Amino acid sequence: MTQSHAGMVPFITAEEIDEMVSQLAQEIEQDYRGKDLVVICPLKGSVPFFSDLTRKLSLPQTHDFVHLTSPKGEGVRILQDITVNITGQHVLVVEEIIDAGRTLSFLKTRILASSPASLKVVTLLDKPARRELPIKPDYVGRTIDDRFVIGYGMDLEEIGRNYRAIYNYAQ
Ligand code: IMP
Ligand code: MG
Repeated sequence: MTQSHAGMVPFITAEEIDEMVSQLAQEIEQDYRGKDLVVICPLKGSVPFFSDLTRKLSLPQTHDFVHLTSPKGEGVRILQDITVNITGQHVLVVEEIIDAGRTLSFLKTRILASSPASLKVVTLLDKPARRELPIKPDYVGRTIDDRFVIGYGMDLEEIGRNYRAIYNYAQ
């Protein structure tokens, strides 16, 4: 790996990620059979997971992107809002990781304001020990303890987004 970094310890291999994504896709496919989906990707960390997951779903689907930011000590802000009409639609938000739950809580409120037919959340990783707001994802790839990870979209100051595997990052 050309971009490796001191303090990176292998945590979840690319093969394990692929298995997790396939499993999640299977569950989603079963639950939404016969329905159309609007799949929403919050930028930027969810991009690899969103890309792999949606390509494993054969359901009819519309894609959209939303960009939120939460600078330290400030609330969550919208940089780029949803552009498709989600009123009356089945909406699935694809998150790579849920930590305190602030981003997702804000996004859920934003989406519910547009009265979708349903709203569910899939996350590849969940860190429930870090939760500050009562957010529960509907589909979870793996529950992990309180550790900082990079890779597969997740970054530390942009390092790690392009890695195929997920690493534990100890500073
Ligand atoms: P929350 O609003 O605290 O749940 O934060 C969720 C966001 O924080 C995720 O979408 C990630 O962008 C980032 N994040 C949380 N934990 C990690 C991590 O372990 N590695 C990299 N990014 C993380
Ligand atoms: Mg994110």
